[in-house]
Amino acid sequence: MKALVWEGANELAVRQVPDPQIRNEQDAIVRVRKTVTCGSDLHLLGGYIPFMERGDVLGHEFLGEIVEVGPQVRNHKVGDRVVVCSFVSCGKCWYCQHQQFSLCDNGNTNPMITENVWGSAPGGCYGYSHALGGFAGSHAEYIRVPYADQGAFTVPDEVSDERALFASDSAPTGWMGADLAGVKPGDVVAVWGAGAVGQMAARASVLLGVDRVIVIDRLDNRLQMAQTHLGVETLNYEQQDVSGELLERSGGRGPDVCIEAVGMESHSSGPQFWYDQVKQQLRIEADRPIAAREGIYNCRKGGSVFVLGVFAGLVDKFPLGAVMNKGLTLRGAQQHGQRYIPMLLERMARGELVTEHLATHTMPLDEAPRGYDMFKQKLDGCVRAVFQPTS
Ligand SMILES: NC(=O)c1ccc[n+]([C@@H]2O[C@H](COP(=O)([O-])OP(=O)(O)OC[C@H]3O[C@@H](n4cnc5c(N)ncnc54)[C@H](O)[C@@H]3O)[C@@H](O)[C@H]2O)c1
Ligand SMILES: [Zn+2]
Ligand SMILES: [Zn+2]
Repeated sequence: MKALVWEGANELAVRQVPDPQIRNEQDAIVRVRKTVTCGSDLHLLGGYIPFMERGDVLGHEFLGEIVEVGPQVRNHKVGDRVVVCSFVSCGKCWYCQHQQFSLCDNGNTNPMITENVWGSAPGGCYGYSHALGGFAGSHAEYIRVPYADQGAFTVPDEVSDERALFASDSAPTGWMGADLAGVKPGDVVAVWGAGAVGQMAARASVLLGVDRVIVIDRLDNRLQMAQTHLGVETLNYEQQDVSGELLERSGGRGPDVCIEAVGMESHSSGPQFWYDQVKQQLRIEADRPIAAREGIYNCRKGGSVFVLGVFAGLVDKFPLGAVMNKGLTLRGAQQHGQRYIPMLLERMARGELVTEHLATHTMPLDEAPRGYDMFKQKLDGCVRAVFQPTS
């Protein structure tokens, strides 16, 4: 079959790879109908996440149709239209039973690497390096879905492919950020990053009844999109004084909740950007935590900061003093999609959660390298490039 493979840092190619096979009784094989770029892939492309191997198939946010099931698959049958959670979880271990699905003890078949780096291993993720299980990704005609009863969700007839696709990764990630950060009616929420993840965190905050949501970015097309499709306020950090505006819009205290949806390659126009970038490129700092720092500095005393953006390792100039002295709650997580996807599909069916505007560019899988280039450079207003492996 055809697939988009990683050929080295910033090198992608579409080529033939072996078809996936059922390997375990709970596996399903899905024919991919739509599969989409994610900000997390950019960290892989840039070579910031080691443990990629030449020929690895990329992609983890996808939707398709089941074409084969293993003998233990109970909830799905051939022909089901399913959206699949980007994280692989068994549904049975202690973490899955406690609804912390991305921490599944069995989803990552290759736990040694992350045990060494982080102390223990999170679950696995499709197309996301051998550190997260080495699973073949979704930018392919077919994909093997382990624990299919746990990870694949039948899409209600009234939800289009274009909308349901984002129930795989962006929408549950954003929802989890708002939920686990503890947003509640009356809150002021600030979200750094107006990509698909930040937009979904902002929309979740609106639906959870907060008073104001302020999305911060420098890309005007994305900020405009957030205003039009999510009904939230925005701030352009290159044109406005973020700290002053956040104070002004939160009664002088600062936001109750700050959600970081930028990740390890965050940008800034100040000298700290060059400091972090040089250290990152020399591999003496893993990540550029610029937006995370801003969230911590701007959050109100006693507030909550949630890190949705992906970070790999160690950071410099981390304001732990502010976290402690301001009494902040600081959390982060890879997404626990299995906990939210059924509810998100229902909201999509009711029209409360609209996502199709995120799919700014759709193209055949053959053009995926061009799609990634557009997405990486944010060309032509690209927010997400969607690939269609089969028609
Ligand atoms: N926790 C999870 O499970 C999970 C799931 C999906 C994605 N992610 C991560 O979420 C992050 C965002 O993903 P995305 O797909 O929306 O990415 P994206 O690249 O499309 O968007 C990131 C946005 O952040 C903006 N940005 C850069 N520096 C900024 C700064 N200092 N302040 C404010 N905005 C800034 C960029 O202009 C861009 O619009 C990535 O790190 C990705 O890896 C995490
Ligand atoms: Zn993702
Ligand atoms: Zn598990």
